[in-house]
Amino acid sequence: MPDIACLLLSRSKALALCTSMALSVSACIQLPEEFEDDTPQTTNEQNEPEASVSDESRTLNLPVTTFNYANIPLPQHYLQNQYPASMPFQSAAMDNDNTPDNNPISDAGATLGRVLFYDTRLSANGTVSCASCHLQAFAFSDPNRLSRGFAGGLTRRHSIGLSNARFYANGKFFWDERADTLEQQVLMPIQDEVEMGMDLASLVPAVSSQDFYPALFMDAFGDNTINSDRIARALAQFVRSIVSTRSLYDVGRAQVNSPLDDFPNFSRSQNLGKRLFNNPGANLPPCAACHASEAFVGVVPAANNGLDRTSRTDLGIGETTGRRTDEGKFKTPSLRNIALRPPFMHDGRFNTLSEVIQFYSRDIENHPNLHPLLRDNRGRAIHYRFNNDERRALVAFLNTLTDFELITDEKYSDPF
Ligand code: HEC
Ligand code: HEC
Repeated sequence: MPDIACLLLSRSKALALCTSMALSVSACIQLPEEFEDDTPQTTNEQNEPEASVSDESRTLNLPVTTFNYANIPLPQHYLQNQYPASMPFQSAAMDNDNTPDNNPISDAGATLGRVLFYDTRLSANGTVSCASCHLQAFAFSDPNRLSRGFAGGLTRRHSIGLSNARFYANGKFFWDERADTLEQQVLMPIQDEVEMGMDLASLVPAVSSQDFYPALFMDAFGDNTINSDRIARALAQFVRSIVSTRSLYDVGRAQVNSPLDDFPNFSRSQNLGKRLFNNPGANLPPCAACHASEAFVGVVPAANNGLDRTSRTDLGIGETTGRRTDEGKFKTPSLRNIALRPPFMHDGRFNTLSEVIQFYSRDIENHPNLHPLLRDNRGRAIHYRFNNDERRALVAFLNTLTDFELITDEKYSDPF
């Protein structure tokens, strides 16, 4: 029987996550319906912190030698496109890298970003950090359909998982791509009136008032000036460092020459699911055409995949560009770690991956902006019509994209 790893995370919310290490079985996630208010943090960490600085309430634990964020080894299949020419939509993950020349990841920069990411002082009443809605155990998403902000209000859409955010070719962020860069994006939740409720004028003093920050800014930027531009750069470096490369998929991939070969470490069903993802059959578009590269990143420009017949309350990219032809289009995050972060889609409408596959199988709607790939030659919505075996296989395949090391790796964890 597989080991069951149970992690109890407890900060402002009590969450129990049980992850079956058997990759053929979906992660089981149990959550209380209501958040518990300020459950005291429990930790079973026995190790003496190597360096610690405390303020009134919390202790910061950082390793003496910084973790490696700047040169995370990427597998060959991230660096090189090894799909055949018959899949012209394919690219290497690295071809989609959105790291700007003026903000490369450094170990010290991402370390500062990690501290900021977990610091509740960045919210107006000191209760919420980025990690409140982007939880490591859930691949930096939120198991709740909508997330709760600093004053108890709910976000409008489902939180986006952050693994491989670095590999989205146009470098735009949010479901509606309203942030042009990650450096711009990371300051937006801080100022959002539901999420963290802070303004930039109060942010800098809130950060400056904590005695450990000047040294971290010094290490990251060469002097201890604290400003919102540097806060943004550091947060963006940390987010871009969250790269997932250690899943069952990666292990199998390293043993074959082509992503289309069956993987020796995959079950029959997982290999069938991979085949269907890349080649679902005559007159059906590959899932891979819109979830491309071996980082499985969303298609650019963003698409409508027919969730609804019309868009009324959430126009997606249409809200950002003001164009009718963009209504109902949404950015797709990387499918890496997808099994860890239900519910699915921008509004979290599907609770399980089976429901997602069922949707593609029979419920794609004729939205006016439905992507042409999802239409037949008469312009109508296609349906994949997978049988039970195929549906199970696709779910089994999507589960192979889970990276259990990423979600327990200390370098991405709460340093407080
Ligand atoms: C109260 C919950 C909440 C907090 C706090 C929060 N986020 Fe988010 N985050 C969300 C939601 C919800 C979305 C999706 C919103 C949308 O697209 O309209 C999101 C989207 C994102 C994205 C976009 C990912 C992508 O691929 O486009 C990034 C990056 C991100 N958040 C980083 C952060 C950072 C960094 C912080 C802290 C400074 C933070 N978030 C704080 C809920 C939150
Ligand atoms: C025409 C492009 C296109 C094709 C083909 C396509 N998808 Fe998608 N997919 C999208 C878009 C766009 C979204 C995000 C939609 C939203 O949230 O509004 C998405 C979302 C998803 C999600 C949820 C992502 C999340 O973070 O919640 C999964 C899982 C998924 N697709 C799997 C598949 C599978 C499996 C197939 C093949 C059977 C497939 N897709 C085919 C465009 C496509």
